[in-house]
Amino acid sequence: MQHDIERVLYHRDEIAERVRSVGERIAKDLEASSSLSDEIILVPILTGAIVFLADLIRYLPHKLRIGVLSVRSYDGRTTESKDIALRGDIPQNLQGKHVIVVDDILDTGKTLNLVSTIIREQNPASLRTCVLMRKIVEDRPLLAADYIGFDIPNEFVVGYGLDYDDYYRNLPDIVTLRPEAL
Ligand code: XMP
Repeated sequence: MQHDIERVLYHRDEIAERVRSVGERIAKDLEASSSLSDEIILVPILTGAIVFLADLIRYLPHKLRIGVLSVRSYDGRTTESKDIALRGDIPQNLQGKHVIVVDDILDTGKTLNLVSTIIREQNPASLRTCVLMRKIVEDRPLLAADYIGFDIPNEFVVGYGLDYDDYYRNLPDIVTLRPEAL
C-alpha cells in the first residue's frame, strides 16, 4: 500500500489537530444553541466519514446519538458526472432534533444537497453540515458547509476513511496516489 502513495497532503498529526479544532467549535456552538433536554444526532455518510466521525465525537461531551446514512453513487468517470441516490434506511424521527451531517469530502455538493433535502423534510430543530475537506475547483462557485476542516486543491485523495475502489481507507494520512495505482 505504501508504494502506491504519491504525496502526503495532510499528515496524521495535522489531521488530528484540525479535527480537534472543528470538534471544539461544534461543541461550543451546541452549547450555545441547545439546552440539556434537546436531542442531538450526528448523521455520518458511509463509508468515507467513519474515521473522521470516530475522532470527532470524542470532542463532543454531549448526550448524542448517531444515525448512519449511506449514499450510492452510480459510476461516472469524474465525480461531476456521478449520479447519487440514498441507499438503505434514513434516520427517522428527526423532528425537533439538532442534526449534524458529517461527510469526508465536499466536492460537487450533490451528496450534501441530497442528504440535507431529505433531512429537512423531517423538520429538525436545526441542521448543520460538517466536512473534513472541501475541494476548491477553479471556475466553480465555492460550496458552503457549516464546518470545514481543510480546503484542498482539486485532486483525488485517499486515506483517513477515503477510498479508491474501497481500498486505502486505513491509511492514517490523507494522500494522493501514484497514477499507476489508479
Ligand atoms: P459530492 O460531489 O457529492 O462528493 O460533493 C462527495 C462524495 O464524493 C466522493 N469523493 C471522493 N472520494 N477521494 C475520495 O475518496 C476524493 O478525492 C473524492 N472526491 C469526492 C466521496 O464519496 C464524497 O462523500
